Amino acid sequence: MKKLCLVMLTIGLFSCQSNPTTGPADLTRNTIIPKPVSVTSADGTFILTSRSDIFVAEGSPEEVAVIGNYLAERLNPSTGLGLRVITDGRKPGKGDILLAINEGDTELGEEGYELVITGKVMTLTAVRPAGLFRGIQTIRQLLPPAIESATIQPGPWVIPAGTIRDWPEYGHRGEMLDVARHFFGPEDVKRFIDHLALYKMNVFHLHLSDDQGWRIEIKSWPNLTAHGGKTEVGGGEGGFFTQEEYSDIVKYAEERYITIIPEIDMPGHTNAALSSYPELNSDGKAKEPYTGTKVGFSSLDTRSEITYKFVDDVVREIAALTPGQYFHIGGDESHSTKIDDYIYFVNRVQDIVESHGKSVTGWDEIAHATLKPDVVVQYWARPANAVKGIAQGAKVLMSPCQHAYTDMKYDSTTVLGLSWAAYIEVDDAYNWDPATLVPEIKRENIVGVQAPLWAETISTFDEAEYLIFPRLPGYAEIGWTPAEMRSWDEYRVRLAAHGKRMETLGIGFYRSPLIDWDQPGL
Ligand code: ACM
Repeated sequence: MKKLCLVMLTIGLFSCQSNPTTGPADLTRNTIIPKPVSVTSADGTFILTSRSDIFVAEGSPEEVAVIGNYLAERLNPSTGLGLRVITDGRKPGKGDILLAINEGDTELGEEGYELVITGKVMTLTAVRPAGLFRGIQTIRQLLPPAIESATIQPGPWVIPAGTIRDWPEYGHRGEMLDVARHFFGPEDVKRFIDHLALYKMNVFHLHLSDDQGWRIEIKSWPNLTAHGGKTEVGGGEGGFFTQEEYSDIVKYAEERYITIIPEIDMPGHTNAALSSYPELNSDGKAKEPYTGTKVGFSSLDTRSEITYKFVDDVVREIAALTPGQYFHIGGDESHSTKIDDYIYFVNRVQDIVESHGKSVTGWDEIAHATLKPDVVVQYWARPANAVKGIAQGAKVLMSPCQHAYTDMKYDSTTVLGLSWAAYIEVDDAYNWDPATLVPEIKRENIVGVQAPLWAETISTFDEAEYLIFPRLPGYAEIGWTPAEMRSWDEYRVRLAAHGKRMETLGIGFYRSPLIDWDQPGL
């Protein structure tokens, strides 16, 4: 068999090591993304059968049963096995899954997990519920892609025995969605959150305002949405989230252990607000709505007190609906704000954000201001700005536009997307290390990795998914897996195995020629 494998490898066929419809033959041959920190194999196979159930260990917090239900909802539609969540203290038997908290296993940290698979039981433990949730994504990915189907599939549902111990390199792993240039509604946003969850991401940054549209209801300034929410790039009808819808999105994300970071971009990128309220303009006249794609032409009046009343109301209302620590103040491309005015503005807005119990994050330009100690600077363009932030004690979130901008075209033939920063093929998206990309930005300065999706060129969620996939799994792995464990040549084979999974999930992904989509799996 070994010899046959070697021959098949030589001619470029990897399939002898696993069957794409039944999963890996040996646990170490898994195709999990992000790549787990440690995997060892053992003899035997675990099989889900009609007798299988999901057991919650006695004494677990209630949250663990909720996570058990989430797992049952992932497994039951495709297996048809009717797995139940058992919380009455009974012990698991053959073919059952056990979920348990083990606070003593501190090596796993806040989001890590251990999965022990035997021929009898599959036991998932974690220090915190968040770790159990991440571990469930590993269980999903150890099962064949058909597990993602909404209709009953034949199986078999088999996982080879062994142990996985796994935890993330970075505490912040996320994507941003621009709902301002084109609006994407709550159902699209929830689907995006589900994609983040599958790849163990934990932050979703919502870009809620820009020149072309204001997308969140602010009760004290209703025209922001009544007027400013009705436009988008190209002249479409726009849209916005009511506060109830936003809260529902926050809850949906929370149930997936994903934190929402809301962004109100200012003092530039504010035409939608300036067109909604004449009093925000220094000449007292409302701006015309804008549906083009230029940047850098708008600015709040940073020396007018009503601007700070406006910012205070907006931050107060959104902060009250947002459980996460961070509020994103934008701050990018304020080309029509004088630098002194910009610094004055960012300094005052930091105080406002803090007064509502949140910490500030913003695009790298905010480092021109005097930063408070808990600020995170989102590096997207200028290393000098990130360095300025670090010199003030700020942490850096890595979103380098040449690698992590999901709205960049894959190559010159990509119809959607932009190309001002780079063409970003799947290998360019994967092949970089946050801790060495910019020599002055060191590992200890970095909180994590975030890939933004700007929406000038996309107006449907199918189009968004085409740009997101298959780059998202790579960003997830950069954030989770230590750099020394990552290699493009090995990753591209694992990614190929995700083609069928993405297809089953109904994702119309970019079929990069760098990936052997037709010969998936290790
Ligand atoms: C940006 O791309 N203007 C942050």
